[in-house]
Amino acid sequence: MHHRQHKSELIVALDFENLKEALDFVETAGDSVTWYKIGSQLFCSAGPSAVSELKKRGKKVFLDLKFHDIPNTVASAVAEAVKMGADMVNVHASGGREMMKAAVKAANEKAKTGSRPLVIAVTVLTSMDAQGLSEAMNRSDSYSPSTHVPHLAKLAKDSGMDGVVASAHEIELIRKACGDDFVLVIPGIRPADSSTDDQKRIMTPAEAVRKGANFLVVGRPVLKAEIPAEAARAIKAEMDGCFN
Ligand code: C5P
Repeated sequence: MHHRQHKSELIVALDFENLKEALDFVETAGDSVTWYKIGSQLFCSAGPSAVSELKKRGKKVFLDLKFHDIPNTVASAVAEAVKMGADMVNVHASGGREMMKAAVKAANEKAKTGSRPLVIAVTVLTSMDAQGLSEAMNRSDSYSPSTHVPHLAKLAKDSGMDGVVASAHEIELIRKACGDDFVLVIPGIRPADSSTDDQKRIMTPAEAVRKGANFLVVGRPVLKAEIPAEAARAIKAEMDGCFN
């Protein structure tokens, strides 16, 4: 088991079609949720207002747009995200060392006046299995995420990134490759009593925190709960309980 000093944070994924629905949810959840994730769906629908409306309400924002482009373009996009006030942004580690270094440099430069967001890398999408990964990488052997994920995490760390997004099942491998200070953002979380939906490699909040997650990303178990604020509070209580 992994022993950590600091608390883990809950991030609720605002997977809604429009800003109104998202803000209604934020209103309902009140103080029970501090961190929200804005993904491509909400961003394509509402744009930068999604970020500014959350910041107006005192929330922390993870802008989950998974940039993957040439270094110059990614650096410019990260700079805009910093201007918007995002507290966490991400890029694909497979974009390579130069791309990741450009992302970190842009965040550092733009943040001289304010606070700098965490710059996080996506390793292998959790929807990819060994078959999908081998095909995408043109490898005839079965190349497994358990080999590629720690490799990309190490590359991300060497490039100056603050951490990675990964499945809970990869936490220990990444900790071994990247050490205790690397930030691990973990989706695919399901409380013991909730539906698995389309997530395959799931873990409970307590298990993921004990393994060493820094942030848990949770969508449907909170969004679809009868009383979302209560579901969020229950997950946070389960996370905090790991430190008693
Ligand atoms: O509803 P659920 O808890 O499955 O939502 C998880 C959120 O995390 C979704 O917004 C999903 O897009 C995102 N995510 C994921 N797996 C990844 C990266 C992001 O489930 N590898």
